[in-house]
Amino acid sequence: MGVNPNISSRISGVGAFVPEKIMTNHDLEKMMDTSDEWIVQRTGINQRHWVEQNVSTSDLGFKASLDAIADAGLKKEDIDMIIFATLSPDHDFPGSACFLQDKLGLSGIAALDIRQQCSGFIYGLSIADKFIQSGSHKNILLVGGEIHSKGLDKTPNGRAVSVLFGDGAGAVIVSATEVKDASKDGHIIATNLHADGAFAKELWLPGPGTGFDDPERVPKTMIQEGWHYPQMNGKTVFVHAVKRMCETLVHTCTSSGVKLEDVDLFLFHQANLRINDKVGEMLQIPADKVFNTIQNYGNTTAATIPLGMRDAIKAGKLKRGMLVASAAFGSGFTWASGLWRY
Ligand code: ACO
Repeated sequence: MGVNPNISSRISGVGAFVPEKIMTNHDLEKMMDTSDEWIVQRTGINQRHWVEQNVSTSDLGFKASLDAIADAGLKKEDIDMIIFATLSPDHDFPGSACFLQDKLGLSGIAALDIRQQCSGFIYGLSIADKFIQSGSHKNILLVGGEIHSKGLDKTPNGRAVSVLFGDGAGAVIVSATEVKDASKDGHIIATNLHADGAFAKELWLPGPGTGFDDPERVPKTMIQEGWHYPQMNGKTVFVHAVKRMCETLVHTCTSSGVKLEDVDLFLFHQANLRINDKVGEMLQIPADKVFNTIQNYGNTTAATIPLGMRDAIKAGKLKRGMLVASAAFGSGFTWASGLWRY
């Protein structure tokens, strides 16, 4: 089925959910030989939310989904596909989209998991946009959700990575629409997706997996070696994130005939406030056009952008008809950008 020129997609609903428990930097000081000053200065993070032990990633996704479906003014039965972006699924298989589908009681519709880590939301938005444009689907639920807190080394050994991440979920409904006036009507204008696997091991979670020189995917030494915790070369990530986010953002805007100064709001992935400040500085974007939430949530990976959308709407910073540009960078390396009229 080809792309139908009369059908566009738009973000018809936005929702989010974060668990109640807040972990401040001072709480982490008691666990992992860090300081509020170090974390704030290097990352901009003040606090993050962590789940209780009986909560799964699809539980967070479920609450964010109900919020997004209500915001779109739809019934859950109107949803005809679920895309779930997460690097911290409920279980290795099946994907969290299947667990979420069951919780929503939507047996029979397509349920798809994607990885792509911090770029997962924009990858998912691009996939949803293409399915909608093909005419095969009308209302796709796209969820980005993570529970990092169950997968971090919370001892001093893990402090360089573990202070960065938080738990949460965001969701949007991507719906079919007909655009009559492109300067006013909500629609997704462009998405661009990229990856460079040469950098896969600069930010990764090695185990469990089949990539070990071992007959078992859970090697006996895995826990002892800490291969079940994320590994990151922070400086390499920083440099590539700034470069690639700038590149892809400029490409998406210019190839759509949009000047950066015409964009009303920038919603960047929330890896580190310093990364976003640097991107803003390099592209000369006024600070009040960039909406950051990392101060409150830490890095929630696939959830950061929809969570930011929900908070920007609540804060009155994102209104219908505004032009939004978004860019993300993460493990893979993967990076992506999107431009839409909300
Ligand atoms: N608390 C206190 N001290 C710490 C901590 C901590 N949590 N973590 C590391 N340190 C110490 C180190 O041990 C080191 O001490 P030393 O000088 O005595 O050896 C010192 O701080 C500097 O360590 P570096 O690793 O060199 O710290 P750096 O300045 O690179 O900052 C950071 C680390 C913040 C992670 C930085 O590299 C960065 O911002 N990278 C971008 C990566 C990122 O944001 N990733 C998020 C996930 S990926 C994504 O979403 C794209």
